[in-house]
Amino acid sequence: MADDLKGRAPGHGVDCSAEYVESYRRTHLHPEDLEYRLSYYRIVLLDGLLRDYSYLDAGCGTAGYFRLMRNARRLTGVDYSERMIATAQDFSVRNGYAGKTRFVCSDFSAFESDETYDAIRLGVYGSYLPVSVPVLKKAHAMLRPGGFLLIGITLPQGFRGRLRDRLGLASTRISGRRFEQLVREAGGLSILTATRVRHRMHYLLRSGGGENGT
Ligand SMILES: C[S@@+](CC[C@H](N)C(=O)[O-])C[C@H]1O[C@@H](n2cnc3c(N)ncnc32)[C@H](O)[C@@H]1O
Repeated sequence: MADDLKGRAPGHGVDCSAEYVESYRRTHLHPEDLEYRLSYYRIVLLDGLLRDYSYLDAGCGTAGYFRLMRNARRLTGVDYSERMIATAQDFSVRNGYAGKTRFVCSDFSAFESDETYDAIRLGVYGSYLPVSVPVLKKAHAMLRPGGFLLIGITLPQGFRGRLRDRLGLASTRISGRRFEQLVREAGGLSILTATRVRHRMHYLLRSGGGENGT
């Protein structure tokens, strides 16, 4: 991997175990999990909606979804795990879409881009890192007007989790109500759809227009 593509972020140097990477590689070969199947469905719909588009995946992992994005012009994957990035690159070569991909080994909080994207998926937030107003503003700034944002949140569980959520404390687990509040505060984005799967809520947002848009 070229040195200029390596992040110098707090997370740099962190790596996922070989077993963890392998579990995702296998999941993409045989996507049996319900949540993964629904993710595939969302990606296929997005791909059908757009033409010649640019896409950014924050926390791309093995980026196995990329093979479904046939109409994309440019696919960018950011992940701080060198192992994940190596597997993602291998996957892209084997499946014949390496020519339109770019992988960046960086902590997403340190990732900056001159480019804007037609669609972004923030896989890292709501599971690894808390969703916040600055994060949503950053995603909005990287989106073209009318661009789409995919993000999933993990819902709070138990009394303490719900209390933390009510108090607005930073957590990777937040309620839909709190997420909607963060979107309103960030501005510029409107929620198009919300789908609950077990303890996760998956959102599709759009930049500009709508109630929250500018
Ligand atoms: C649940 S896995 C994603 C798997 C991916 N969707 C796939 O299908 O292979 C989450 C990924 O986020 C990455 N990650 C976690 N925190 C990150 C951060 N702060 N910056 C960049 N990547 C991060 C991990 O290395 C991991 O590959």
